[in-house]
Amino acid sequence: MVADRVPCVFYGADYSPEQWPESVWPEDMQFMRRAGVNLVTLGVFSWARLQPSPDQYTFDWLDRVVGLLHENGISINLATATASPPAWLGRLHPESLPQNGHGARYHHGSRQHFCPNSAAYRDHGAKLVRQLATRYGRHPAVVMWTVNNEYGNHLAACYCDACATKFREWLREKYGSLDALNEQWGTAFWSQWYHDWAEILPPRLTPACSNPGRQLDYHRFMSESLLGCFLNEKKVLKELAPHLPVTTNFSGPHGLLKSANYFAWAEHVDFVSFNSYPDPHHADPADIAFSLDLQRGLGRGRAWALLEQAPSQVNWRKYNAVKRPGQMRLWTYQALARGADALVFYPWRAPRAGAEKFHSAMLPHGGPDTRVHREVIQLGQELSRLGLVCGGRIAAEVALIVDWENYWALELDARPGPLDYSEIVRSYYRALFEPDVAIDIIQPEDDLARYKLVIAPALYLVRDGVAENLSTFVGNGGTVVMSFFSGVVDASDRVLDGGFPGPFRKLLGIHVEEMEAIEPTMSRHVRTAARSTKCSQWIDLIELEGAEVVAHFTEDFYAGRPAITRNAFGRGLAYYIGTQVEMEFLRRLLVDICEETGIRPPLKVPAGVEAVTRENEHGRFLFLLNHSTNPQFIELGGLEGTDLVTGQALTRQFQIEPRGVCVVHVG
Ligand code: GLA
Ligand code: ZN
Repeated sequence: MVADRVPCVFYGADYSPEQWPESVWPEDMQFMRRAGVNLVTLGVFSWARLQPSPDQYTFDWLDRVVGLLHENGISINLATATASPPAWLGRLHPESLPQNGHGARYHHGSRQHFCPNSAAYRDHGAKLVRQLATRYGRHPAVVMWTVNNEYGNHLAACYCDACATKFREWLREKYGSLDALNEQWGTAFWSQWYHDWAEILPPRLTPACSNPGRQLDYHRFMSESLLGCFLNEKKVLKELAPHLPVTTNFSGPHGLLKSANYFAWAEHVDFVSFNSYPDPHHADPADIAFSLDLQRGLGRGRAWALLEQAPSQVNWRKYNAVKRPGQMRLWTYQALARGADALVFYPWRAPRAGAEKFHSAMLPHGGPDTRVHREVIQLGQELSRLGLVCGGRIAAEVALIVDWENYWALELDARPGPLDYSEIVRSYYRALFEPDVAIDIIQPEDDLARYKLVIAPALYLVRDGVAENLSTFVGNGGTVVMSFFSGVVDASDRVLDGGFPGPFRKLLGIHVEEMEAIEPTMSRHVRTAARSTKCSQWIDLIELEGAEVVAHFTEDFYAGRPAITRNAFGRGLAYYIGTQVEMEFLRRLLVDICEETGIRPPLKVPAGVEAVTRENEHGRFLFLLNHSTNPQFIELGGLEGTDLVTGQALTRQFQIEPRGVCVVHVG
């Protein structure tokens, strides 16, 4: 991807020169060059400036910016500018404005105010993209395209009439007949039977719980509708500039934006890109690592681009902490360590007006002589020495299954209790982050043969073939860890036959007869022969069908009943954790399982230090990232190499300063 084109790390900024008089631009160039900026994302929110009315385009200013960047040797990631339609579009085509489930329209005056199924929005967008691609597609400074911006971030779904019509078409295509739809949605319940396609509506406001099959299909439909917008623009770009890679920036808390099934989307981008905004005060480095590994997983292991991160604070949380000295640098290296070859900030220059004037920038309101800008310059200088790392891959023997359909279904209404899928999957990731076990984030249908351990937390929705895939993996000697509320429904959210955990019953050697959600104030515990832990969220009441007990519950009428089980299946092992256990307990359990299966971290390092290895034809690069605010001693053991950041040779034992980083090229 990016790395194939330029043999260096891309370091850059989101650049909005239209917010400033032209007299400022030369200064931007000068400061960008000094900071080592070699890539800018240009034009993300420029539509209104590029097209003042439907028949008039104003590219002269953009021509000058593109020319200036080119003269200064800065590459351009040109945006298609369709993320914030101009006022005239909503005025001429009010139906292009989205509608919520209560029937209210959103209006112009912010951004992302478009219905993904609006023909007017899509047509005008595609016309603009045609103009941009014709004019700049062959320009030597333009090296890639970004389509739109964070699809589905502000507006997860639209419920308007255009969407209703398209939804019906989508359903006809999917089900073929109304009988099939009625069957899959279980419409015999509550008299929801449909006799005519025209009767079907999006899941708009209803007095009680909405039909879950319809809700689930609407998630799928909306994700595909937004993807359709992306593909509509991508088609034009590929027609006019087929040599340029095309991406769109993924977003969302921990990368798990609910409105877009990113595994499905990732098939359509030339490389994955991500906007990362962890909270400087509260973010757990493990959670950041999860979101970064997710991008690597979406791209099937290939390098990806960090297209946005804040140089310091954001302005959209209630309390907006500044990044502590060194934190921006540390988190940038973390992205590089976990597969990013482009490291781009939002924005370049702090805007004087508008909704984000209190957002940090690479060039703050206070100008270049500021802490943040000095850190920006230092980082740019360092990254210019790290090009060797580009394209490097991470070899993992553990896979963590994350699945968007499961995410949607698990969090629908009227479950035994509220579950937070993101929290559940991240708890398993976190448990193995501290011991530095490399993890690939994958889909349940993926080829599992290359892994030793597969973790599938709360796999509630089971598509055809998934149980067979996991069973074959274990049968052939693999180890699987599954957790509560798994094997419950099919792809339409209908309960699977044969009791829980459905098609995993044989694999796990258990039957879950009943399940109960635990209220946060209730205290329950789990005990093994050696230790005990508090448990939360969920209790599965397990009957053994061949599995052995690893831990049992200690309270209530289910005291003594199995909580964690292990089943020998074929040549492998299948663990089941029927509740949510505390982190330290989970970590020890998973580390024991890793040891049992022969999985080792790249190097034993002190707590608070993250160790990750990227590898390519230039060798192995061991990233050591000190997330703590204390210096840490590293024992390299037999390893030795050169720190690419400082150029120093490293052997045996050395110290990393608080929030310090080291990239050891071990040859
Ligand atoms: C998002 C958007 C940017 C900007 C930043 C602010 O990621 O893509 O346009 O609004 O947030 O943090
Ligand atoms: Zn709509």
